Amino acid sequence: MKSIPEPPKIVVVGSCNTDMIIRADRFPEPGETVLGGTSFMEPGGKGANQAIAAARLGGSVTLVSKIGYDIFGLQAIELYRNENISTCHVITDVSNPSGLAMVTVNSMGENYIIVAPGANSTLSPEDVAKAEPCIAEADILIVQLEIPIPTVEYAIELARRHGVPAVMKPAPAPLSLSDSIISRLFAILPNKVEAEQLAGIDITDTRSARAAADIISRRGVDNVIITLGGGGVFVKAGESYASFPAREIEVVDTTGAGDVFCGAFCVQVSLGRPIMEAVVYANAAASLSVTRLGAQQAIPYRSEVDACI
Ligand code: RIB
Repeated sequence: MKSIPEPPKIVVVGSCNTDMIIRADRFPEPGETVLGGTSFMEPGGKGANQAIAAARLGGSVTLVSKIGYDIFGLQAIELYRNENISTCHVITDVSNPSGLAMVTVNSMGENYIIVAPGANSTLSPEDVAKAEPCIAEADILIVQLEIPIPTVEYAIELARRHGVPAVMKPAPAPLSLSDSIISRLFAILPNKVEAEQLAGIDITDTRSARAAADIISRRGVDNVIITLGGGGVFVKAGESYASFPAREIEVVDTTGAGDVFCGAFCVQVSLGRPIMEAVVYANAAASLSVTRLGAQQAIPYRSEVDACI
């Protein structure tokens, strides 16, 4: 009888927010008011989105995060439990509200996001230290930058100590990120804006994407995967380079697509798939998510991604 592989253990140290989303034909100019269309609210946050993506796509996920003592936090934690995510390290901060994100989506599916971090800004290295046994047992650690950088750094260091590969989605785009953090990562997954910030050059075509990947890689990380939206994905994996086109789809909302890519990529890598294959799978998962409105409600399930691979 064929044995079913154990789901990979994934720990996400990161943010959770509530997203307030408004669709509008276009973004307002400074000082201008525009009338929008559909509006809705749903749990979001880059950390939580990545955790849900990893869980829906086959991971056994633990989320290390902080919520406020409010209705948004309570709703978020209930949702994580319904997604089979371990919430024993989701801490309640009684002094700060839950993180809040104002998201505007235009008719092209592009978004503008402003985040008020709230409780996310108090997730500390001490909080992460309590999750050390989970991190030590994990197949992969995922981090992003909506929580304090010293906390991110500590989580990566814990993972390194236990031989656990760490993957970073460097969002929001970092103004500065030290080489000592980057060099402890197994892989970094910036989008165009984030890669430009990290490399200090503009990305306009495959050649400049490769140059950016090289610059970032020279800062100490072997695997650089740049997601370029409609421009596809550019990958530097060790000494190999590849460019994957975007899939032909109707774009409704790109919010959270990078989070889906990250969650999907990490599940695939921890299942032992080579980087390039993991990227193809993650590209398919992210493409599915942009055909739907919202961040978490748009995250596909494994059967959906498997069907379009
Ligand atoms: O990446 C999308 C996410 O960014 C949204 O869910 C929002 O909460 C912000 O964190």
